[in-house]
Amino acid sequence: MRIAITGANGLVGGAAVALLAGRQELLAIGRGAPRIPAGPWTWADADLGDGRSVEQAIRAFGAEAVLHAGAATDVDACERDPELAWRVNVGGTEQVARACRALGARLVAISTDYVFDGERGDYREEDLPNPRGAYARTKRCGEEAALLLAPDCAVARVAVVYSGRPGAKPTFATQVVEKLSRGEVVKAFHDQIVSPTLAESAAAMTLELLLDHRGFRGVLHTAGATQVDRVTFARKVAERFGLTGEIVPVRTADVKLPAPRPLRSGLSVARASALLRTKPLPLDAALETFHAQWSARSPS
Ligand SMILES: NC(=O)c1ccc[n+]([C@@H]2O[C@H](COP(=O)([O-])OP(=O)(O)OC[C@H]3O[C@@H](n4cnc5c(N)ncnc54)[C@H](OP(=O)(O)O)[C@@H]3O)[C@@H](O)[C@H]2O)c1
Repeated sequence: MRIAITGANGLVGGAAVALLAGRQELLAIGRGAPRIPAGPWTWADADLGDGRSVEQAIRAFGAEAVLHAGAATDVDACERDPELAWRVNVGGTEQVARACRALGARLVAISTDYVFDGERGDYREEDLPNPRGAYARTKRCGEEAALLLAPDCAVARVAVVYSGRPGAKPTFATQVVEKLSRGEVVKAFHDQIVSPTLAESAAAMTLELLLDHRGFRGVLHTAGATQVDRVTFARKVAERFGLTGEIVPVRTADVKLPAPRPLRSGLSVARASALLRTKPLPLDAALETFHAQWSARSPS
């Protein structure tokens, strides 16, 4: 099958390329040159923010299925430049969805827990989004663009993505490991309850949704199975890595950040657990994989 993956240099997109390489005919789409290990895929350098190039790349390839994992993901940068956030997260998703519509291709568009305001928590797919801030609002609009334009589309929401694979970009989880290893203090928000998601797990779930559940249209939460505050998350990471050191709880309201953060944005993954063979991972199991990835990239 001909499968296109956007955001191929990213945490989830890169993991998805690694999972499918050599098994399917693959078009990996990213901006600039590939920063993932070489493999049996074709690379397209195309900008989600430019109006046409991603759509053209997907159409020229003749994709039968598309995993849309590319996005402007820096929440504070989006707040500072809402026009760019709109172009990439809404316009880019529109490009992908238009291509899928033209080709009759299945689409899974990845979205975020930030579509919720975080006042209640433990959100299910049927709960009403109330996004706050430019990133959240553009991602929510991207969801609608995908669902409206692509006839066979699912939106898969993930949260607080991390990976320990070589070359994966730094995240909260990797910073915890690096800072504690250097003897530095880690600050973590004690009042943000989240569903940390291992990128490789999200990639596996969203690819199954893309390839094996063509009948499934609508939203699915494909995050990690454990909802946890960020201090506990940091402590769990430290524990798994055998790291001691100081983890200082911080209140979100005490830190001046450009973009608002939802406080209780945990996602219920009951629907994904029932639907998918690839189950959402409990935190302890995900941290086993994270630790193994990390050990493989920096043997000690
Ligand atoms: N990361 C998280 O904590 C998180 C949380 C909730 C939801 N999500 C969602 O999960 C999905 C996957 O994100 P991720 O976690 O894999 O984050 P990521 O590592 O930041 O991946 C996003 C990818 O999109 C690419 N991109 C950004 N702007 C682009 C543009 N104008 N044209 C082409 N490509 C562009 C980035 O390219 P570069 O590598 O060149 O920057 C990056 O490779 C996104 O939909 C995101 O909104 C992520």
